[in-house]
Amino acid sequence: MEEINKKQREFWSGAGGDVWVDKQREMDIMLNPLGKNAINKIDFSDKLTILDIGCGCGDTSLDIAKKVPEGKVLGLDISEPMLDRARNSANELSLKNIDFEVKDVQTDSMPSEYFDVAFSRFGVMFFEDSYAAFKNIYTSIKQGGQLAFVCWQNPSLNPWQSLSIGVIKDFLDLPSPPPKSPGPFAFEDKSYLLDILQTSNFRNIEIIDNQEDITMFSGKTLKEACEDYLTINPVVTEMLKNSNETLKEEILNALMDKFSAFDKGDGLLFPSATWVVSASK
Ligand SMILES: C[S@@+](CC[C@H](N)C(=O)[O-])C[C@H]1O[C@@H](n2cnc3c(N)ncnc32)[C@H](O)[C@@H]1O
Repeated sequence: MEEINKKQREFWSGAGGDVWVDKQREMDIMLNPLGKNAINKIDFSDKLTILDIGCGCGDTSLDIAKKVPEGKVLGLDISEPMLDRARNSANELSLKNIDFEVKDVQTDSMPSEYFDVAFSRFGVMFFEDSYAAFKNIYTSIKQGGQLAFVCWQNPSLNPWQSLSIGVIKDFLDLPSPPPKSPGPFAFEDKSYLLDILQTSNFRNIEIIDNQEDITMFSGKTLKEACEDYLTINPVVTEMLKNSNETLKEEILNALMDKFSAFDKGDGLLFPSATWVVSASK
């Protein structure tokens, strides 16, 4: 049997992680306001010990660490290059109450009843077995502790994804992942998400529908943004690698055509839909 989460580990410690490190600034500008919606669910009144699940390059971990100078933050992730970036950023800021560890939140053991809060910005949708992962997360939280995270709703409500995938599928045989499979849209179905949280024994579960415009590829022209877009999806990058220049040009032009409606001259402004999730143990 193949090792659990092997594909995700390879992706996030390989091409996927490298792209996120390279494009960290743009990614953080895009995701920061959405992550804030989940951060705002945390009651910061105590000296909290906080887990940042799938913390990636650490933007949210750093942000949270500044809010709990008396507490501590542990960022866990399976991506070595992204955690290297996170550690460097924490050192640059001389933050002492923060640590990062390579851990698979689904399969690795975590300290029991240890965290006051488990938080995530788009880092909880990549597990092969989300029920096992959320049981692990539940166990790691103290009695009365909090859970807060943000994840994507259906791609049709996130046109940065649905329009671009539509364009690419006009040219390439891009596989569609089965529903609920690990990936950014694994939790698009609210009832599935609710079932995972209820099965893991979380209480006071709230799943809020948040619709908000987001800036993608801040500071870039339409052409630069579309060129970048085609490099951030490694499946597409791999497929385009052996394609001829004419096909690449056609895809780029078709994408620019679709994205032009969202062009603000210095980045793209897209509608987005996310679930802002909170619960307690
Ligand atoms: C979409 S990125 C989000 C990164 C970061 N939270 C942010 O908002 O910038 C998803 C993150 O989840 C991490 N991840 C995926 N599967 C994981 C697992 N089983 N355990 C821990 N982290 C995981 C990835 O390595 C990646 O850093």
